[in-house]
Amino acid sequence: MMHPVTTQRQMTELETTSAAATQAFAAEWAATLPPGTVLCLHGELGAGKTCFVQGLAKGLGVRRPVGSPTFTLINEYRGRLPLAHIDLYRVRGSADAFGLGLEDYLFHFDGVVAIEWAERAADLLPETCWHVRISAGTAPDHRRIVLERPA
Ligand SMILES: Nc1ncnc2c1ncn2[C@@H]1O[C@H](COP(=O)(O)OP(=O)(O)OP(=O)(O)O)[C@@H](O)[C@H]1O
Ligand SMILES: [Mg+2]
Repeated sequence: MMHPVTTQRQMTELETTSAAATQAFAAEWAATLPPGTVLCLHGELGAGKTCFVQGLAKGLGVRRPVGSPTFTLINEYRGRLPLAHIDLYRVRGSADAFGLGLEDYLFHFDGVVAIEWAERAADLLPETCWHVRISAGTAPDHRRIVLERPA
């Protein structure tokens, strides 16, 4: 008899047909997230991770425009809940991420934390984070978005 050792994570899958639709979905979804939520965003360059975070920001009541934190690595925004937007593209591994103070955001941030290229720090990520996977859809401006809920 087989004994599964991993808990099945609940998944939700959808396809959006434009950047605006991705943002609208993320904005609506953001309203359901409690403080302390960590979202790990996965997808190729240009998949739509930053676009998704722009929607989250809107849903969290952030007024300041959200850009890409590629050079600053971490941007914080004030909203109904604060948002920390982190981009680990330039980070080589967990040691680098540790130097950024990433664990403070993973474990002690009283808001929503969204991390692009989170897999760069895979071994630091808590079990309690969501994974959001964005990939190509069935047409150029379509994207497949899979939300993987914490176990
Ligand atoms: N359905 C869609 N959802 C999201 N973005 C879309 C969609 N259709 C087209 N786009 C376009 O794809 C691009 C996504 O860029 P974005 O900067 O969000 O990607 P990224 O995943 O953050 O890339 P990077 O890894 O370089 O940070 C934008 O130009 C956006 O307008
Ligand atoms: Mg980006």
